[in-house]
This record gives sequence, C-alpha cells and structure tokens, in this order.
Amino acid sequence: MRQLICAGNWKMHKTGRESVAFVDAFLPLVRAIPERVEIVLCPPFTALATVSPKLNGGRVRLGAQDVHWDESGAFTGAISAPMLREYGVQYVIVGHSERREYFGDTDLTVRLKTVAALAAGLTPIVAVGETIELRDAGKTLAHVTLQTRAALDGLSPADLARVVLAYEPIWAIGTGRSCHPAEANAVMAAIRACVPGLRDAPILYGGSVKPDNIAEYTAQPEIDGGLVGGASLDPASFAALCANASG
Ligand code: 13P
Repeated sequence: MRQLICAGNWKMHKTGRESVAFVDAFLPLVRAIPERVEIVLCPPFTALATVSPKLNGGRVRLGAQDVHWDESGAFTGAISAPMLREYGVQYVIVGHSERREYFGDTDLTVRLKTVAALAAGLTPIVAVGETIELRDAGKTLAHVTLQTRAALDGLSPADLARVVLAYEPIWAIGTGRSCHPAEANAVMAAIRACVPGLRDAPILYGGSVKPDNIAEYTAQPEIDGGLVGGASLDPASFAALCANASG
C-alpha cells in the first residue's frame, strides 16, 4: 500500500502556548490513524521550540512553513535550514502561493530554498499552483509544470528522490471551493511527468481539504495525501482527516 502524507500548514495561526494545547489534544487521537499515513505539523516558527519536545521524535513529524536559502548571514527576519534542524524539523514547505504572492518568493528563490533544505537534510514540500485567471485561460498545466521545472530541473536523482510536491490551485485555498479530484489528479500526472526522477515522488493536494473530502483525493492514483490549512487547526478535525485519508 502507498505511503500517504497529511501535512497541516497552520500558516500564521497559534502562539506557542496554543500550539502545545493542540498537540496535547491531538497526540491521543493519533493512535486511531493508520500507520501508512505520515503526519506532519507545520506550526509558525515561534512555536517550533514548544512543539518539538512534545513530539519528541515520535510518530508525528515537525515541519516549518518556509526557509531561507543561506545557512546564515545578513537576512533580517529570516530563518535558515540549520536553525530548523536544531528543533527537530524534518519537513519544510517552500514556494507556498502565499509566500509567492505576499513575500516576493520567485521561481528562483523557491529553487534556492529547495536546494538549501535538501542540503541540510530537510524534506522540502515544494508547492505549485495556478491562479483562477490562468485556469480560466487554460494555462494550468503550462504554469505548474514551469514552476515545477524551475524548482527541480537538474537536481541529482538522489535529491529528487527526497522531494515532496504539493499541488495547490490558488483559487481553492481557503475558499471552500475545492478542485475536483479527477482534475487535480490530471494536473499531478503532468507535474510528475515534467521532471525526470519524479515518478515516485509523493504529491499532495492542497485547497479546501476537509475530513469529509480527503478520501476522494487519496483514492486518485496520483494523489499521495493532503497539504491542509484550515482543517488542520483543530485537533479532532485534523485527526479525522488523517484517518480518513487512508480510505
Ligand atoms: P485551506 O486548506 O485552508 O484551503 O489551505 C490550503 C493551504 O494553503 C495549505 O497549504
């Protein structure tokens, strides 16, 4: 059976204390989640220090929401991959559409961040996705394959084997308007095919994933889990979603 990944992207939600309250409520629920589901929590940077000891290298993995491409330097406000590693972080989201839209992330910086994450031993979750305008213009595949190639073309086969991708149509994020599973599946097939070496890469769907629709996504052959915003903020909701991912 395929391994699945359910990653909760908390975005700019929860203080350190609120994050601990989530984890305390969430961990007892994890036992009911099938082992084939890898569970990842991506709290804000400021909560890594409080969440990390609670997870304690156990079943639930720690992720971050962004990373800088240099190890250290004059980059006010930025956090490097070695800094994340110090807190037991194993995954990091790069290229989320909110980073691209509000913080100036480009195809180039997404690539640099991906390379930095891999070099530090982190698993990058490389996010791609199209706007509603691009979708309506029939440019979805051209756009997401361009983003994917820009981030990953030319990486070594060993590095590519450690990459996770996320397809998040921007028009489906936080809108309650999820992408039809068959449509997401078709886009993911194109993503997988556009860079040699991605054949076995996990690809997650993101955009209004909920406990009651995750199974429709993971039933698709190309979809290996979810990158979840809103529905990952409540312990019972995220636990149900992770359990339902397994079908
Ligand atoms: P929602 O699940 O709230 O739509 O957010 C999706 C997302 O952006 C995850 O990274």
